[in-house]
Amino acid sequence: MDKKSKIYIAGHRGMVGAAIWRILSSKGYTNLIGKSSSELDLRNQNEVLSFFSNEKPDVVIDAAARVGGILANNNYPYQFLMDNLQIQNNLIDAALNNDVKKFIFLGSSCIYPKFAQQPLKEEYLLTDSLEPTNEWYAIAKITGVKACESIRKQFGKDYVSLMPTNLYGTHDNFDLKTSHVLPAMIRKFHEAKLNDHSPVELWGSGSPMREFLFVDDMAEAVVFALDNRLPEYLYNVGTGIDLTIRELAETIQNIVGHKGEIVWDSSKPDGTPRKLMDISKMHQLGWKHKVELKEGIEKTYNWFLENIDNFKEVKL
Ligand SMILES: NC(=O)c1ccc[n+]([C@@H]2O[C@H](COP(=O)([O-])OP(=O)(O)OC[C@H]3O[C@@H](n4cnc5c(N)ncnc54)[C@H](OP(=O)(O)O)[C@@H]3O)[C@@H](O)[C@H]2O)c1
Repeated sequence: MDKKSKIYIAGHRGMVGAAIWRILSSKGYTNLIGKSSSELDLRNQNEVLSFFSNEKPDVVIDAAARVGGILANNNYPYQFLMDNLQIQNNLIDAALNNDVKKFIFLGSSCIYPKFAQQPLKEEYLLTDSLEPTNEWYAIAKITGVKACESIRKQFGKDYVSLMPTNLYGTHDNFDLKTSHVLPAMIRKFHEAKLNDHSPVELWGSGSPMREFLFVDDMAEAVVFALDNRLPEYLYNVGTGIDLTIRELAETIQNIVGHKGEIVWDSSKPDGTPRKLMDISKMHQLGWKHKVELKEGIEKTYNWFLENIDNFKEVKL
């Protein structure tokens, strides 16, 4: 990819978008463009069309979405379905009609069927029922993957989807009402440490197994997809390594320096027993993660400490 190509990163202020911007800048890509949601509401088709006809980007990376945990999905099913459909439909259609050469769409491992065989292979998409708690989000995301696949099929354009596993890292969401498990644990252990090493209560039994990828590695996978024409329409992106939630908690506890007790509340649900991606397709093409979990958590905790005053607000 030409380093002067005009690359529009939708959602460039989010955790993933910011990492993509950072990594592309560090690799000498000089013509990056981004707009916040208050400058350009991607749900508004007219605004998106006029932005594309003015800017004429060569490449679009779609890291904009309404994202959230079970609670948010449960309370706002319509927004999770419709906002995501509108954002991605407007972006994909405007890209196609403005001759954007390459489009990178981000799906998510949580859109695979609830009881799919492990590790998750790309071909398991749409083979069984979804997890009911996030089906709104999943249906929208599956539509995005299929829209890009249909453009690939019908117009021969390089529109590709990457399917990230659970991501974490700098610019993560540490708000306990809406955050994912890893940043929530960092915050809980940190606050308990400051509170004289008080016990930390965590949900479930600690036995489910999960995979985590540092967000800079995700951004590197996006750069890989930018620099290479990937032969298929969909690729899983992860480490291929999982661990129990209990092991994750103990790793974070050590890094944070919390010396108190961990109390597992087994009256709370565990969720899916295992969720691991099969990443052999990306490995065969030559991409592999670089940041191992301990190093990634250390970096994330340092970022948390440096930015602790900036993320007090609830994002719902
Ligand atoms: N985080 C994960 O663990 C994970 C895992 C798998 C897949 N993904 C995927 O990665 C992508 C990015 O996720 P993230 O974690 O970076 O989310 P995030 O931190 O919440 O960022 C989402 C971004 O989307 C933008 N956005 C939302 N609604 C918009 C609208 N109506 N108009 C314009 N922009 C809008 C936001 O812009 P403003 O900041 O300007 O409001 C924000 O920059 C998503 O597609 C998500 O599904 C994430």
